[in-house]
Amino acid sequence: MNEIQKNWDAMAKAYEEFTEGKESYSYRIEWPCIQRMLPELKGKNVLDLGCGTGRFSFLFEDKEPSVVDGIDLSEQMLTLAKTKSLVRKSKVHFIQGDITNVSDYVDKTYDLVFSSTTLHYIQNLQQFFKQLSLVMNEAGIGILSLMHPIYTSQYPIDQNGKFPRDEEWNVRYLDTSLRSYMQPWIEYNDSVEKFLSSSYHHTFSDYFNAIINTGFQILQVEEPKPPIEWKERYPERYDSFIETPSYLIIKIKKSSI
Ligand SMILES: C[S@@+](CC[C@H](N)C(=O)[O-])C[C@H]1O[C@@H](n2cnc3c(N)ncnc32)[C@H](O)[C@@H]1O
Repeated sequence: MNEIQKNWDAMAKAYEEFTEGKESYSYRIEWPCIQRMLPELKGKNVLDLGCGTGRFSFLFEDKEPSVVDGIDLSEQMLTLAKTKSLVRKSKVHFIQGDITNVSDYVDKTYDLVFSSTTLHYIQNLQQFFKQLSLVMNEAGIGILSLMHPIYTSQYPIDQNGKFPRDEEWNVRYLDTSLRSYMQPWIEYNDSVEKFLSSSYHHTFSDYFNAIINTGFQILQVEEPKPPIEWKERYPERYDSFIETPSYLIIKIKKSSI
């Protein structure tokens, strides 16, 4: 079992609590923007890469596609997804697997290939986009919702198991070293032991060159803002998302040239 899978197995329950609320960052900042970028899904095939607890897979299912498949490395994240699936009587097909080899796990191609906040766990972006290309229809759309590179650039550099101090959360934009830190949302959750989790920081050029070099065409790029009503209701939270953007969302298709 690799480190990333171990980390996500341990964090699954806390992540579910953090993201499921109707005022979660994802639900209020990320999802409204994704909805504006989505193609028509009725009768289409949808693939959710790094689907975790299935949040987006279920939101897509509400739009009446013919197939939704979700792939994730973490058994515990998928267990939560499958539990919700039973309650919802969902037909989403959840598969345990590594999305850097996604073509090994599926036997069809898709009209929408989607991924949310997962690509900073992938070291080799070029390999990921090549695989994405293999499982996408010729007329298909890809929507990649990324942790914004400004955000990931402040993740502390890995220090061989040592917990970083607060002041080590500062921008090191061009430093591609492994990052290791305690997820900020875990600090507020007593149900999980404090531990380090690791991820990568990719710059804008890393993402865009991997997309372009794979032969994709970029259709749209978004950096969604927090909802304006948060300015009064949660002023500190609002300011923190204005200072440091959380999401970079990119829509791509296969190049026609
Ligand atoms: C931040 S969570 C996002 C989950 C879900 N997309 C969401 O937005 O709620 C990142 C997920 O990526 C998964 N992941 C990381 N690397 C992966 C890989 N190589 N293959 C499949 N899943 C991976 C983790 O197990 C975790 O569930």
